[in-house]
Amino acid sequence: MCGIVGCILKDNKKVAPILLNCISKLEYRGYDSVGIATIDDKINIKKDKGEINQVNKKLNLADMEGNLGIAHVRWATHGDPNKTNSHPQFDENKTVAVVHNGIIENYLDIKTQLEKEGHKFISQTDTEVIPHLIEKYMDKGLDLEDSLRETINIIEGSYAIAAISVNEPDKIVATRKDSPLIVGIGDNGYYVASDSPAILEYANNIIYPDENELVILNSSEIIIKDKNDNIIDKEIQTLDWTPEMAEKEGYDYFMIKEINEQSKAIQNTLTEKINIKKIIDDIDDINRICFVACGTSYHASLTGKYLIESFAGISTDVILASEFKYFANTLDDKTLVIFISQSGETADTLKALDKANETSKTLGIVNVAGSAVTRKADYVIHTQAGPEIGVAATKTYLSQLTAIYIFAGLLSSNNSLLEKIDRVPEFIDEVLLDVNSIIEMSKKYKFVNDFFFIGRGYSYPIALEGALKLKEITYIHGEGYAAGELKHGPLALIDEGIPVVVINPPGDDHKKTMNNLKEVKARGADVLAVGSSSDKMLIEEADDVFTINPEVDQVIAPLVYIIPLQILAYYVAIERGLNPDKPKNLAKCVTVE
Ligand code: F6R
Repeated sequence: MCGIVGCILKDNKKVAPILLNCISKLEYRGYDSVGIATIDDKINIKKDKGEINQVNKKLNLADMEGNLGIAHVRWATHGDPNKTNSHPQFDENKTVAVVHNGIIENYLDIKTQLEKEGHKFISQTDTEVIPHLIEKYMDKGLDLEDSLRETINIIEGSYAIAAISVNEPDKIVATRKDSPLIVGIGDNGYYVASDSPAILEYANNIIYPDENELVILNSSEIIIKDKNDNIIDKEIQTLDWTPEMAEKEGYDYFMIKEINEQSKAIQNTLTEKINIKKIIDDIDDINRICFVACGTSYHASLTGKYLIESFAGISTDVILASEFKYFANTLDDKTLVIFISQSGETADTLKALDKANETSKTLGIVNVAGSAVTRKADYVIHTQAGPEIGVAATKTYLSQLTAIYIFAGLLSSNNSLLEKIDRVPEFIDEVLLDVNSIIEMSKKYKFVNDFFFIGRGYSYPIALEGALKLKEITYIHGEGYAAGELKHGPLALIDEGIPVVVINPPGDDHKKTMNNLKEVKARGADVLAVGSSSDKMLIEEADDVFTINPEVDQVIAPLVYIIPLQILAYYVAIERGLNPDKPKNLAKCVTVE
């Protein structure tokens, strides 16, 4: 949801090529428009609507003077994606330029007041009030830093802001509240950015500023101050991600690279076992677990409920983060609330985490080190998927599931479950060896309008996740259902030629799911089944089958059976001429509620 970058170089080299490179690495956060501002003897701004490559071709973004500047990619909230609404935003005299990620909730009141004072606004954005406020305070004699401090006393909402002013051409000031911002220390200069992939190539020593701390960068130092102007000594942490991890490395798109990295991601996450054991030993007096998450992370949580209730016998709820406040009254100090988030910055999840911290023990399962969930939760499990750039979650989902399976296995002291998880990377490698049949199926199904996914028990969250992957990157309507629910309504939608994906691994639920397969077939559905290679009945009944070999039972199926569904979604998107890494209207990190 918008990405921001700021950089000041130690020498007098041009910063624009570096800013362009950094902001390109954040395009997964938004791709409605892009802009860069630098300072030499004045503020230079180039910005426009469109993806970075298109805008760069038109404007040559790297060709700007100045050794310091700020950059932005936009995911529009207030105002259409157009040139005027693109960031950087500035005041009428172009003395101040600002990039912002978040939403200023009281911007209309501030704008009305500033207009009365003579300020002229040209955009429809909430952000534009920020450069005007900074300019107003600078006109009163405050410096850039104090002007930003005054500004954040007035604005309400969420923000990561980086600002520059022509009156102090050797400085970038930045701050954050409820939106992510990191500070990078590089050999060639200093950085601020929404997320670490932006700066991995230049800086891997990182500082994580807290809410409303002020970050002041000049060419010789980084200063971080609290609200009361006191300098704070912040811990410097070293990132263990490498720049190559955030590159496509020969793949056409990040999504297919990340699908292929899934067995590695699971192997790496398996190393969290010792940490997970320690957490479980520490929280021994709980009688209820509650998962809170959004989207794909919510689907991982649903699998967690099946696992924990059946293996550990602990009552477990799963709540969408955006709905959490309606359930929070039932929490107490015997409840463990588990927050699952790949980004660790999802606004809905963070709101719920603040609420849960008031009453209960909290645990975050997070992929991005140093993100807000890792700082707010009592306990943290780091999924070790490495950076995920494709907007659709794939390897982070499997890493989340791995962490949950380990958690459930250790909580219930079930060694057989733990041993089964150890073998999953091997199963995944086997599945990925031959996906040609799925690629063929994507050609057959590329023109359909609707898709249904059904499964029972552990396969129900697989159906939901398969449907989500398909709809978000192909724009085909997809619905996941518990197979037993079809007859209670959705069966009315099944007709001649409607594709129904039936997820049916070996296990107790197999027979009943076969019955559901026959029910949809009898009504003309085109059945695409995923099942075991030894499942003769399934292979005979289905129109198309993707078989899993070696045999994976229904408990472990969520970690393996999702792979062909991710691949199906990916190739249908390719067949439809879409970019699976950048689905329309979506962004990787959802920092607005
Ligand atoms: C779907 C997807 C989203 C995210 C959701 C939560 O592919 O990526 O549904 O799962 O926005 O994001 P995190 O996990 O970062 O909290």
